Amino acid sequence: ASVLVLNGPNLNRLGLREPAIYGDRTYDDLVALCHATAAELNLDVDVRQTNDEAEMIGWVHAAADEGNPVIINAGAWTHTSIALRDAVAMVSAPVVEVHISNVHAREEFRHHSYLSAVATGVIVGLGFEGYVAALRFVS
Ligand code: DQA
Repeated sequence: ASVLVLNGPNLNRLGLREPAIYGDRTYDDLVALCHATAAELNLDVDVRQTNDEAEMIGWVHAAADEGNPVIINAGAWTHTSIALRDAVAMVSAPVVEVHISNVHAREEFRHHSYLSAVATGVIVGLGFEGYVAALRFVS
């Protein structure tokens, strides 16, 4: 099964958005890193980003139907979306929640994740390396 790497709102702005927090590498750099890692691991990977919550939920439904593992950085939906949590809860393959920044060292409103309880595991604060670790885990 191919691995889905799903990125939520504002992550297409990596490199431009708050570089002190998220670094100066771009979203395209992240996609390239995921593809390079997947090639090393002999994994089929599909890396996507959306600013539309309905589109993200549709992708998670498809992963649930197809039995694909999911690596998800839901951005701010992490802290707001029970709908996305309910979708993730339907995925039976491994789900790894990733955050580039250490959300626990930031504002209080980033400390709670609706996704963590329905994810297999969570990686926070390791920058882009979190995606590499997640790909290794699901491989
Ligand atoms: C983030 C952390 C979230 O709190 C924030 O809303 C993001 C990015 C991260 O990768 O560190 O958009 O998910």
